[in-house]
Order: sequence, then C-alpha cells, then structure tokens
Amino acid sequence: MRFPKGFLIGAATAAHQVEGNNIHSDYWAQEHMQFTSFNEPSGDACDHYHRFEEDIRLLAEAGLNAYRFSIEWARIEPQPGVFDENEIGHYRKVLLCCREHGVEPIVTMHHFTSPKWLIEQGGWEAEGTVEKFARYCRYVVEKLGDLMHYVCTINEANMGIQVAAIARRYTLLMQRKMKAEGQIQVGINLENPMMARMKQQAREHMQLFGTPQPQVFVAPRTPEGDLLVMKAHQAAKAAMKAVKPDLKIGITLSLHDIQPQPGGEAMAQKEWDEEFLHYLPYIREDDFFGLQNYTRTLMGPEGSLPVPEGAESTQMEYEFYPQALGHVIRTVHRSLPIPIMVTENGVAVADDERRVAFIEEALKGVQGCVEDGIPVLGYMYWSLLDNFEWQKGFSMTFGLVAVDRATQQRTPKGSLAFLGSFTR
Ligand code: BGC
Repeated sequence: MRFPKGFLIGAATAAHQVEGNNIHSDYWAQEHMQFTSFNEPSGDACDHYHRFEEDIRLLAEAGLNAYRFSIEWARIEPQPGVFDENEIGHYRKVLLCCREHGVEPIVTMHHFTSPKWLIEQGGWEAEGTVEKFARYCRYVVEKLGDLMHYVCTINEANMGIQVAAIARRYTLLMQRKMKAEGQIQVGINLENPMMARMKQQAREHMQLFGTPQPQVFVAPRTPEGDLLVMKAHQAAKAAMKAVKPDLKIGITLSLHDIQPQPGGEAMAQKEWDEEFLHYLPYIREDDFFGLQNYTRTLMGPEGSLPVPEGAESTQMEYEFYPQALGHVIRTVHRSLPIPIMVTENGVAVADDERRVAFIEEALKGVQGCVEDGIPVLGYMYWSLLDNFEWQKGFSMTFGLVAVDRATQQRTPKGSLAFLGSFTR
C-alpha cells in the first residue's frame, strides 16, 4: 500500500484524556462529584503534560509524520478573561517538539472539555459562548500561530445531538418501564434508583455550576445549541483567519457508516441528515473537513439494529468494522468536495494483532479513495496512548502505546510501528 508524497499519517490525543490534572475544567469538577457518572477520575491521566517529549519522540521514531492534539481552553483561560502565559509557553514547547521531530501538528482548539466558568455562564446553550470561544482561539493563534498550519476548531461538533437522541430513547424506555411497574405496585411509592441518582446529581450540579443541568459540551443539545456550536465554529474561524489568513481551518464530526437494511432507507436518510448533511451550510467554505469514524450502523425501519449475530465487537461494544471508514469518506465527498482529513479512526481491543488488522483494512479503504481522486490529506489513528476514555475511565485500550499508570512507563505496541511503516 502506498500513499502520495506529503500524505499525513499520525495519531491523535486530546488534552484532558492524556495530560492530567486539568483542574480548571468542567470535567474535572464532574469527575469529583459524590454522585459522579464517571467510573474513575482522570487524575494525572498519562502525565502527557510532562512527558509529551517522550511521546512525540516515540511517534516520530516509529515513522509517523503527524500528531493531532488539543490545546486546553481551561488551562489557557482558567478564569474569564484571565489568560495564562505560562500555559501558552507549554504548548509552544509541544509545537516546537513536533517541528523538531519532523512531525506536522494538527491542533484542536476544543475537544469536549471547557473551562468550568464557561459552564457557570450557560455553557454550550448560551449565545455569549460564541464570542468567548472566538476570543480564546484568536489569543492562541496570536501567540502560537507561527507554528501552526492545521487547526480543528471543535471536536465532534455533532456529539451533543447524538447524546440528545440517546437521552430521548432512554427517557422513553424509562417511562414505559415506570408505567409497567405502576400497574403492579399499586399504591407503593417505589423510587427508581436511577431517578433518585439523577436527582442527587442535579443537586450537586446546582452547587458546582449554579444550574441543575450544566450545559457541558457532551450534554443533550437543543437544536438552538446545535446551531450555536456552528456559530462558534464560524466566529472562531474568522477570528483566527484575521490573525493568520493562511491557517488551514476545519471542524470535526463523528460519523457512522449508516447502512440501511430492508425498510430502513428513510430512517437512514433522516439519521445522515441529522449527523452530517444539515451542517453543510456552515462548513462548506472550510479549508478541510475533519472526519471521525469508528464503526457502522445498521438501520432498520424503527431505528438502529444491534450488532449482527456472530460479528466481532470491540471493548466499546460496537462492531469491529474497519471498512466503514472508506465508505464514509466516499459518502461525505459526494456532498462536501473539500479536502478531508481523517482526524480520528481507531479501535479499542486488548489484542494488538486485531488493531493491526483494523488499521490495515481502514487504510485500504483510504487508499482506494485517494486512487479515485478524493482529496484525503491524512489519517490520524485514535489514539497514540491508552488513555482516559471519559466516563468509562482507563479500561478502554485504543492506544498504539500502552501506559502503565502506576509508573507512567510507555510500551509501544506492534501497531505503532505498523502504522509508521506506511510513510516509507
Ligand atoms: C472522541 C475521543 C474518544 C474516542 C473514542 C471520539 O468520539 O473524540 O475523545 O476517546 O472517540 O471513543
């Protein structure tokens, strides 16, 4: 398998998932709640904040030529309007380290976590967030733009409406369940433990954020909030271009390879519209599109279908299906003919041989797209390190490099060298 000269092959991380001690962020606060939804707190994560040199060196020595990472807003602006020069200095070192190793940095300005104060001010449903995000992005580019070529404004901008859809399905299920219970337990005031927990969480949220339903980025998004995220992208793009006009700027979306099954065609179309098509007016003029894909969705007439009988599953419990990536690139290209950067694609498995197989199959798909003339700029595997998989904690192993969290020792897996071999 060969890729054109200049094709980027790299790995991705996100600040909160690897750096450690992101103490001014909304997630840090939520992880430490008494009634938290997190399996464990992020703590010092992979201590990438102090060990980034070793991590970038490992990546470069294996042959990878790009590194996608995020700058943490909560570090840069820990209090509203108060910017921390020392943290800018830190990310300057990270960017310089990439350059010294011949690695192209792809910088994400927002990857799920926000400063806690932003959420206290209404978070991702408040109009004011648009200007605040643009101000932060402009500041970063003023200070660090000389070392940056590629910037993703917002990671998986469509995550909020995906969460909203899950929340709707869940509420419906709960309502049905409670109705059924009500029929049997007449006159008994039995409190559902899940509901009780949610009430306790709401009380704690009130204390922490001044609202029972903090609008963190990965919270159920309203259609207005969804639009606000697009406005934030556009405002940030304009603010950064004003400082550095030739900066290549895009957004990233989480996309499934939606495959309609008999009778599921209309549902599949509706889902694709919600997941992707309705964003087109806001991203059409971008310099590139950040495509993120992990698996496929089989769509029946009532909605998504379970993983087929006998199919291989990943630790995340979705299907091991690397062919999805090539399919999604083709589908996206049909309605968005701008350059595509695969900003995430990966698999959580214990057996690294399966990761190698996944990468090989996914890259075959990418190569086919390139051969057919689709402008694909690069492929970033998720993730460089085994890291903090949000509410699921450290148990998911997506990494090309294993991390012993007791000693913070790094052990490259075979898949790291395998991925690196494609740049030669
Ligand atoms: C996110 C990552 C996450 C990965 C694996 C993506 O949705 O951008 O932060 O760790 O998927 O679940």
